[in-house]
Amino acid sequence: MRNCRLCRAEGRGTDPVGGAPAPGVPGYDSAGLAVLNKGIKTRKVKGRVADLASAVPARFKGGIGIGHTRWATHGVPSDVNAHPHLDSSERIAVVHNGIIENADELRAKLTADGAEFASETDTEVLAHLIARTVKDTDTLADAVRTALKSVVGTYGIAVLDAERPGEVVVARNGSPIVLGIGEKEMFAASDVAALVRYTRQVVHLEDGELAVLDSDGFHTFTMDARETAKEPLTVDWDAGHYDTGGYEHYLLKEISEQPETVARTLRGRLDDRFHIAHLGGLNLTPHETRAFRRVKIIGCGSAYYSGQIGAQLIEELARIPADAEPASEFRYRNPVVEHDTLYVAISQSGETYDTLAAVQELKRKGGRVLGIVNTVGSAIARECDGGVYLHAGPEVSVASTKAFTSTAVAFGLLALHFGRVHDLSPADGRRICEGLRRLPGQIAEILEKEQEIAELARKYAGHPSMMFVGRVRGYPVAREGAQKLKEISYVHAEAYPASELKHGPLALIGPDMPTVAIVPDDELLDKNLTTLGEIRARGGQVLMVGHRVAEPKLVDDCIVVPKNEVELDPILLTIPLQIFAYHAAVALGRDVDKPRNLAKSVTVE
Ligand code: F6R
Repeated sequence: MRNCRLCRAEGRGTDPVGGAPAPGVPGYDSAGLAVLNKGIKTRKVKGRVADLASAVPARFKGGIGIGHTRWATHGVPSDVNAHPHLDSSERIAVVHNGIIENADELRAKLTADGAEFASETDTEVLAHLIARTVKDTDTLADAVRTALKSVVGTYGIAVLDAERPGEVVVARNGSPIVLGIGEKEMFAASDVAALVRYTRQVVHLEDGELAVLDSDGFHTFTMDARETAKEPLTVDWDAGHYDTGGYEHYLLKEISEQPETVARTLRGRLDDRFHIAHLGGLNLTPHETRAFRRVKIIGCGSAYYSGQIGAQLIEELARIPADAEPASEFRYRNPVVEHDTLYVAISQSGETYDTLAAVQELKRKGGRVLGIVNTVGSAIARECDGGVYLHAGPEVSVASTKAFTSTAVAFGLLALHFGRVHDLSPADGRRICEGLRRLPGQIAEILEKEQEIAELARKYAGHPSMMFVGRVRGYPVAREGAQKLKEISYVHAEAYPASELKHGPLALIGPDMPTVAIVPDDELLDKNLTTLGEIRARGGQVLMVGHRVAEPKLVDDCIVVPKNEVELDPILLTIPLQIFAYHAAVALGRDVDKPRNLAKSVTVE
């Protein structure tokens, strides 16, 4: 085995350490690596992988290595708090994603027992614990297993033992670990993205599994040492998916890819004969589908907002009551799980801890859960009873764009499918099928307006705060627009239902607080135009995003997008807001792909 690479940003993001700085390594604050070469050699720095690369001497070589990018939870970002962490005798080195909840208690016990801690991290506890047990066990795997028995919390770890230079042990509980199978070499990472430039044969560990990697391959075990059988999966993403393709940022590349990614989500799934959607992975008979009385959608952040669009689509097309809720809230409120409710979990990464925990809670209570997931073989995909893959390709930039639209499109398919099983007429089925097919071309038309939208972004970016409003179908669009703006440009943005403005937030409106108003041409158009008048009457500027140019007395600026069916319009109305946020962030000189404090895959609570 030449390599074991396990990387994290305290549970978020991955980066193959030692090569060129990799894409998709968001928000991390320090980086480090350890190699085995007559003992363990380490280099750790506060900063980015590029800083680590400059700190590593030319002759820093070893047969096996582990590396990591950290996103601080315990102790400030610093060289000493960066991973890997070693025990005092420097026999054991550990990198860790997740959080050890009883770290303080374990630290006190170990200190009383003579251990000397170098860092403030929870992870160092693991190095000392394993070092204590390794002397009395036959294998490193046994030592790791014994040590982990006293640990409460989440982890994805990789462990080196200076006295067993032929192997690396990795273990998972709540933080992803993926093995990569190479030619006479093995890899491990917290994300497939870190592996695809070396291999496309991967194995996902389950929670409670441990693996031993050596030059011959790998063996996986349960925590009570029973060997488990794993089938490698071939991932269809390759290294080419992880370059910027000539764009200045991954975000712009991913926004621009949407005609193609939406087409991929739709491909092979629309049936023009019966005007239905074919979704082979649902694992639901028409009889079972009819038996559901409600649909509950869960996801976090932008995934949750796309779920709100999905809930509306399902209610409108299938007339099944549906609503969306943040998975991070759902999991903690002891939800009532009903046998006639269908649960739908959304996740681009498939590894978001809050969403995974919510799915697991649902499964414990006997709930039927579908997944709408982008990453094939990810933890959430494995946990669900069936679902829909997005086929949007890897999303590298921290802010979700193409996965958001593909999720909304997947909900269009799901709602069409449920609708046609219920009471959606063939004529309406045809209308939605045709509308879905028009989306890629219409997205391409919106992308042609990039320069116009960029100018508006530069005009509005200087304001400290912006309001986003929308009514009913427009409300999730407003929420997603505000989310995109705040996360990548750091401009404060509030999203409100347009109907709620007069119940409080109107007090904020004035020359310093422009409003982005989502105003589709639907049955609520007049009401929305009245709201614009109310904003203008209070001195607020209005940037309207809709299907027509409104009178100058109501708006300062308009972005006009192509019209689709009213149910599908929210998907198109989102695209200009992505472009707007991107150019606002560029105008303000932000780190567009890696906004501060954030990371791509949130695998911690
Ligand atoms: C926002 C964003 C996040 C994610 C959220 C869920 O642009 O990217 O809000 O949508 O963290 O992530 P996934 O979809 O991977 O579960």
